[in-house]
Amino acid sequence: MCGIVGYIGNRDGADIVLAGLKALEYRGYDSAGMALLDKNNKPTLLKQVGRVDGLEKLLNEEKPADAAIAIGHTRWATHGGPSVLNAHPHSNTSKTIFVVHNGIIENYAELKDWLQTEGYKFISATDTEVLPHLIDHYYKQSNSFEEAFTKTLKEVRGAYAILASTTTEPGKLYAARLSSPMVIGVGQDECIVASDPSAILAHTKEVIYVQDNEMVVVEAGTCHITDLIHDEKVQRETETLDFDVNTAELGDYPHFMLKEIHEAPQTIRLASLGRVNAATNTVKLGGLDSVVNQLSHVDRIVIVACGTSYYAGLVGEYLLEEIAGIPVEVQLASEFKYREEPFCRSTALLAISQSGETADTIAALKKVEDYGVLRLGVVNAIGSTIARMTDAGVYCHAGPEQAVASTKAFIAQVMVLMQIALHLAKEGNELYKPMLEEIEALPAKAEAILKQADTIKAIAEKYKDYRDFLFIGRRYAYPGALEGALKLKEVSYIHAEGYAAGEMKHGPLAMIDENFPTFALAGDGPLLEKTISNMQEIRARSGKIVAVTTEGVNTVAQHADDVIYIPKTLEQTEPILHAVAMQLFSYYVATAKGLDVDRPRNLAKSVTVE
Ligand code: AGP
Repeated sequence: MCGIVGYIGNRDGADIVLAGLKALEYRGYDSAGMALLDKNNKPTLLKQVGRVDGLEKLLNEEKPADAAIAIGHTRWATHGGPSVLNAHPHSNTSKTIFVVHNGIIENYAELKDWLQTEGYKFISATDTEVLPHLIDHYYKQSNSFEEAFTKTLKEVRGAYAILASTTTEPGKLYAARLSSPMVIGVGQDECIVASDPSAILAHTKEVIYVQDNEMVVVEAGTCHITDLIHDEKVQRETETLDFDVNTAELGDYPHFMLKEIHEAPQTIRLASLGRVNAATNTVKLGGLDSVVNQLSHVDRIVIVACGTSYYAGLVGEYLLEEIAGIPVEVQLASEFKYREEPFCRSTALLAISQSGETADTIAALKKVEDYGVLRLGVVNAIGSTIARMTDAGVYCHAGPEQAVASTKAFIAQVMVLMQIALHLAKEGNELYKPMLEEIEALPAKAEAILKQADTIKAIAEKYKDYRDFLFIGRRYAYPGALEGALKLKEVSYIHAEGYAAGEMKHGPLAMIDENFPTFALAGDGPLLEKTISNMQEIRARSGKIVAVTTEGVNTVAQHADDVIYIPKTLEQTEPILHAVAMQLFSYYVATAKGLDVDRPRNLAKSVTVE
């Protein structure tokens, strides 16, 4: 999942594309590159390993004066490691065609073999390099770039958002999309093509979302769309985006992850603002109004998501079943797509996604497209693909999340799932009123945990050198434990596993010794005693324990090496407070190890390939 940006117009394309790449760096940061065509159609190709900042240095040294056409790329490596040769843009041997690509060309190996028999020389290990060579091959036959580009698109299989520029036809950019996101900003005598609006909004709010199987010839201020399936021209008006990508500023924080953890109280407020009112005992979710009838017939909900969003879904499962009495099944989107399971029309599919661009979750929604089932979304990124694909949904309003490790979005997702459960709750559910009141009290309780940051930092530094970590919890704390383990894995690279505490004796206990500590979520809920016996099992094997329990509970400390106390809350809202404590713990372990917490190795913020 890479970021691509292209510019065509009369302004300095290099700077506009560079700024766009910075906005899209959350999509991948293994390498960055740019191809520029100046007014005399002279190409400049700049590529380097690592973050976009490095490309900026290169640009300052070698930028041509007037690059009116520019395409750029920030990479998350899929085929071929981070290197200058594997960095995009890729070109044909005669350097007349330049291509950037986000996605995977699944049949690249056979195409490469064939092109090599045709005499083409490859310099990289990437799948993408087949594109400029294939275009070159067809261009030699037709002398028409549009025809060559179209033929190439019909040859390749997989997922792609492709941008191409060529010295053979200055004044045009060529773009195409198949499942990877692409949007075109149409300005005054200029166009900006990008993976998402964050690279465009500084220039125009007039955009065209490119659909699957479309090829676009982009000129300065106009776009010509062709539907590749039906080989016909497509007329599409621009739509005006009604949101700003307010670039999250770091402020006084050293990292976006810490900033976004400290946004927890505000995140909780924003996720329930204008929705929950304990005084009037009401929950209002305007985003579901348009499907209120279908919702009333829903008798089963299947939640699909990936990573942290999946774990939020698991908390949602407990909430929806306990509060709304609706059976729920949570499935990994990457598995859901390939499962042959019966689906009836009274089942709703609920997709959860921070970015709204995760390919596996999009594929899950596409799978049930013709099933006639209700497709709902819990999404943070406004105007994203999943938000536009679903019949209705609820935005998380957590604001842009910059750090790759999702923190505030998880909290906002659980808050929204809580409200959906309350919105669907049966009349007289005994949890309804206490939950509404607790939702309004949660921001202050999250604040109380943030105030313990120094204590949690000291504990984290004590455990930074362990190579393995177990996270355990029961009921609502079980998905919490899974999420805690993922957070530690992502930013500290420590092998961490989340487990249902009751499962310990069925295997994981074998791993436990003085070198394998455990993070135990042991709040004062109905299963505290059971969790304490699991902690005793661990202690009996010399396992060290960091416990998170409720203020006033005095039966946990004796079974733990370190304890983090959180304010008293309901079991159903506890995952929110557990998350704040575990996010801080993971952040401080990672920073104690001197790691790049905002841009962990091998990861990217939005996974737009399967
Ligand atoms: C979480 O910290 C990770 N960034 C990752 O697991 C993420 O949750 C997953 O890729 C799903 O992303 P989404 O919510 O944007 O769909």
